[in-house]
Amino acid sequence: MTPHLEAAPDDYAETVLLPGDPLRAKWIAETYFDQPRQVNGVRNCLGFTGTYRGAPVSVQATGMGQPSLGIYVHELLTSYGVKNLIRVGTCGALTDKVGLRDIVLGTAASTDSAMNRDVLAPFNFAPCADYTLLSRAAGLAAERGLTWHAGGIVSSDVFYHPAGKDVYAPLAAHGVLAVEMEAATLYTLAARAGARALAICAVSDSLVTGKQISAGDRQSSLDELVTLALGTAAPD
Ligand code: HPA
Repeated sequence: MTPHLEAAPDDYAETVLLPGDPLRAKWIAETYFDQPRQVNGVRNCLGFTGTYRGAPVSVQATGMGQPSLGIYVHELLTSYGVKNLIRVGTCGALTDKVGLRDIVLGTAASTDSAMNRDVLAPFNFAPCADYTLLSRAAGLAAERGLTWHAGGIVSSDVFYHPAGKDVYAPLAAHGVLAVEMEAATLYTLAARAGARALAICAVSDSLVTGKQISAGDRQSSLDELVTLALGTAAPD
């Protein structure tokens, strides 16, 4: 038990999927897990454990943004011994090479967050994905015929940026594919604990075209995203 997780010490599997939204965590557990049971309800930030293809797996909501995710991931790593953390979320495309519904595997995560700037000063730490999870996810995405990209993403603290979408132009000019709000801190905390982490994101909107996916597409896109993450978590 920790300040934000009421689960018993053995309640989480070594592999945990991390959506932002608590109801998405519940949906993932109820839709894809065998014998799901709720292990956390503190602040309604729901967590569940079950099995997938016979392997134990958990899902824990993180809330939105790096400070919130950082609390849950720190506690999962330091109090529950979690070893593999796979974020499942959405992102906004920063380049016309990345389309709506595409899958982005975040190989590295730039950030404007103070989470890394202050803690690791004077260095600019380069938060990067775990190669084993990354290569497994890339292999599966190719095998399933998904439209996918592996490359840099940016984890921004600011969803409604006063400078507008042009604030990301310098990053796009350095090959950064998409914006989301959590991966950099996930990668940093996993690295600090010697654990594996990967952010798998489905593109929900494009900052280039201003378009968003439809409600119908959102569900099928989510299904592709979650089954890719589960296949990465529990390979054949
Ligand atoms: N900005 C930040 N996070 C996001 C976005 C976005 O445009 N789309 C999906 N997650």
